[in-house]
Amino acid sequence: MRRSVLTTPALLVALSVALTACGGGGEKAAETPAETPAGETAAPTVVAGLDGKAEYLICQTCHQENGEGLPNLYPPLAGSDLLTGDPSIPIAIILHGMQGEVEVKGQKYNNVMAPWASLTDAQIAAILTYERSSWGNAASAVTAAEVTTVRSATASRTSPWTVAEVTSATLK
Ligand code: HEC
Repeated sequence: MRRSVLTTPALLVALSVALTACGGGGEKAAETPAETPAGETAAPTVVAGLDGKAEYLICQTCHQENGEGLPNLYPPLAGSDLLTGDPSIPIAIILHGMQGEVEVKGQKYNNVMAPWASLTDAQIAAILTYERSSWGNAASAVTAAEVTTVRSATASRTSPWTVAEVTSATLK
């Protein structure tokens, strides 16, 4: 048995030729996927699959289920001008946080919101789309691509924004 295997050099040559041929063909095939780095462009379609209301649970601890916040501590998101205006502003607030005095619906707040940069672009888009269309808010949906743009435009930011900063900064 053992001898018959060792005495078939012709078969081994044939095998190695076949393997070499496969390797040659494989190289060509491998070039194709390397030339199409389309991974990131698929993100916007994922947003629809994410439930913004479920994702909002992490914000709800402070801003409350009804979006009204808590007096003197957490500002309301229902009726917030910063939330429902240019989406770049709430995107930037989620990515880097917010601090200092702010007046929302006639009430003053002076607290700190920590950054949530670890959320994905799609999660942030889903959360903002939910918040901007809930509790009487009627602002446009937000796409993951918009979040991607603000994330890269504000990448050098290292501290939470004041209102004056976030409303005057270049966010996209
Ligand atoms: C631990 C509490 C806390 C959590 C959790 C939190 N926030 Fe905040 N948020 C705050 C505080 C405090 C402020 C106001 C900061 C200040 O006084 O300058 C704020 C401000 C905001 C504002 C600006 C509102 C305005 O009109 O000025 C937005 C928008 C916002 N938060 C969105 C979110 C979103 C979206 C999430 C979830 C990803 C979230 N927050 C999670 C505490 C929180």
